[in-house]
Amino acid sequence: MPTLTTPQRSPALIQLHRADALAVRAELTAGLLGGAAHIAPKYLYDALGSRLFAAITELAEYYPTRTEAEILARYATDIARGLPTGATLVDLGAGNCEKAARLFGALKPARYVAVDISVDFLQQALQCLQREHPALELLGIGLDFSSQLALPPEVGAGPRVVFYPGSSIGNFAPVQALDFLRQAREVSQGGALLIGVDLVKPVSVLEPAYDDALGVTAAFNRNMLLHLNHLLGSNFDIAHWRHRARFDAAHSRIEMYLDATQDQLVQWPGAQRLFRRGESIHTENSYKYSVAGFEALLGEAGFTGTRCWTDARNWFAVFTAEAGGEPT
Ligand code: AVJ
Repeated sequence: MPTLTTPQRSPALIQLHRADALAVRAELTAGLLGGAAHIAPKYLYDALGSRLFAAITELAEYYPTRTEAEILARYATDIARGLPTGATLVDLGAGNCEKAARLFGALKPARYVAVDISVDFLQQALQCLQREHPALELLGIGLDFSSQLALPPEVGAGPRVVFYPGSSIGNFAPVQALDFLRQAREVSQGGALLIGVDLVKPVSVLEPAYDDALGVTAAFNRNMLLHLNHLLGSNFDIAHWRHRARFDAAHSRIEMYLDATQDQLVQWPGAQRLFRRGESIHTENSYKYSVAGFEALLGEAGFTGTRCWTDARNWFAVFTAEAGGEPT
């Protein structure tokens, strides 16, 4: 049966320079052959890894996601008051776009730009979103911004609210975090930043959040080796690797490792490494800040008018900050 339809907006999608397989293999090989083997945490997120992370956010022990959601829901109006309305909302690491969508009511953005490592993850979410918000201009950008944050001209002119939730900033060492914040300030085009940051708290809370009783975080971490097998053609046997998470107070960070439970030779095209029992691969750092410490970092990055909201237990913080005038 023919139906009468009004012209419908549809999300625009752009995929930017994806690292080629050769570059990825070179990066992974260098990390695995290093004296202290290490792999960047972005490799935790293949299709299964992303689902395992979603499961982590549902765990009783993993407080950040629900605590941040609580803060954003409770103070949305107050938070929005200090942010430009009718701006472009740029969501860094958008995933299913759920967190940002919950802010549409308070922020009233003119357009929404979802940025994630792959545009494939964004397409479906944006199509759903378009049905709920037919008038909103939607743009999806596939971009790995972990080493450099620069948006294409399609994002358009005018002030932007850069939304960086989930304490993803915690994956950067403080020096890199500062560099990233400076870039975020540039990218905001005189707008503002809205960012979620995990706070320092007792080890008895921090460590279980990264080593839960069900073993979901262990699966998430160990799945990285399956992802590597796929990317590298390596022969990691996950039966011989154990998940470990510890809080390093000196660096104020959770560290995640995979520990070899026996001697083993791991091979992949062009290279190999003998891992001794007890040797580890460092897979993630998750830095924890104090409110004052993160405020100082925002100031150093050139932001002004910083405001902060926390939960009753002071476990998580949401900051807004204005980009202000000249770049620093
Ligand atoms: C997505 C980087 C914020 O550090 O808490 C969760 C990732 N790793 N459990 C975090 C993660 C293990 C998460 N971030």
